Amino acid sequence: MRALVTGAAGFIGSTLVDRLLADGHQVVGIDNMSAGSADNLQEALAANETRKHRFTLVNLDIQAPELVDVFAGANPDIIFHLAAHVDLSASVADPNFDARNNVLGTINVCEASRLAGVRRIVYAASGSSRYVPTDESHSVAPVSPHAAAKLAGEFYLGAYAGLYGLAPICLALANVYGPRQNLHGEAGMVIAFGSAVISGRPVTIYGEATAVHEFVYVDDAVDAFVRAAEAPMQITGTYRIRSGRPATVAQVLQMISSVHDHPGSLNVASACTNDVQSIAMDATHAYETLGWQPGVGLMDGIHRTMQWLRTVVDPAPTFLPVSWDSRAIQETCRAS
Ligand SMILES: NC(=O)c1ccc[n+]([C@@H]2O[C@H](COP(=O)([O-])OP(=O)(O)OC[C@H]3O[C@@H](n4cnc5c(N)ncnc54)[C@H](O)[C@@H]3O)[C@@H](O)[C@H]2O)c1
Repeated sequence: MRALVTGAAGFIGSTLVDRLLADGHQVVGIDNMSAGSADNLQEALAANETRKHRFTLVNLDIQAPELVDVFAGANPDIIFHLAAHVDLSASVADPNFDARNNVLGTINVCEASRLAGVRRIVYAASGSSRYVPTDESHSVAPVSPHAAAKLAGEFYLGAYAGLYGLAPICLALANVYGPRQNLHGEAGMVIAFGSAVISGRPVTIYGEATAVHEFVYVDDAVDAFVRAAEAPMQITGTYRIRSGRPATVAQVLQMISSVHDHPGSLNVASACTNDVQSIAMDATHAYETLGWQPGVGLMDGIHRTMQWLRTVVDPAPTFLPVSWDSRAIQETCRAS
């Protein structure tokens, strides 16, 4: 199979690239390197040493007009669309920037796919919603410009399915965590708590310590992308991807502390109404239609993630790594 992955240098995208190459596929990756890192693609680039042209990285913005030519030249059987600006606070501060990347960028991906004659697009959708529990029969209500833009992407893919016969599968991902996740991003609770515990810093969260969240280990999330790619073309729509093992914020910190053999301390501050307090989703549809099931339990996933974090986090930092909080959103909300 020839696969094209947008957002290939990012956390989930690079893990997907590695899995596709391990499965014997040829991969073209596209990334504008705004948040991605070439370090994430070391293994992928090494694949070219044994067989030429297994992996090609194109440094390009998905909004660029040249995207059409890149898609046509790559002639892929499938497109995995993961490129997105993922900073929630920044989307509140500058919704136009977020929409250009995540809405106009996705439209450009739809257009390029149509013109290249590629029907199957697997899209990394957002699992955030106001409703708990969230299953496929509940409507969704985005709580930030970022969530609205990601949802708009789903709707555009649906429109292109109706108009041009594209066959999109949208994977509404819960909190994905694991190695390569951005240490300085705001979305990764496990990464933020893990690096704080390793460097002996207290964690400040905005929201309730009892808020329930759903997690999915990155390898399991990637497996969902692969299964979606293998599904018969008549299967389309949105599928919730989550572990089925919800945990509270306090439980996650407790698990991380026990893995590191060092207690973490939690400061709980007040919540902003625009923050997503709980994500709990029903993934029955994904089990039944895609045959997808999570394989890595939260404790096991935390073990694996902490193993990686110990190689990248300075235990006695001269700077303070980012903790998991929504202060920027909080301040933006207060100001508006
Ligand atoms: N991580 C999660 O918990 C989670 C949850 C739900 C959905 N998602 C979605 O999964 C996808 C991947 O997320 P991630 O956590 O790996 O984030 P990430 O920031 O590590 O990866 C995103 C990649 O897209 C690239 N990118 C951003 N804008 C681009 C543009 N305009 N053109 C080309 N490349 C661009 C970045 O450089 C980065 O490499 C995103 O679409 C995100 O919305 C992630």
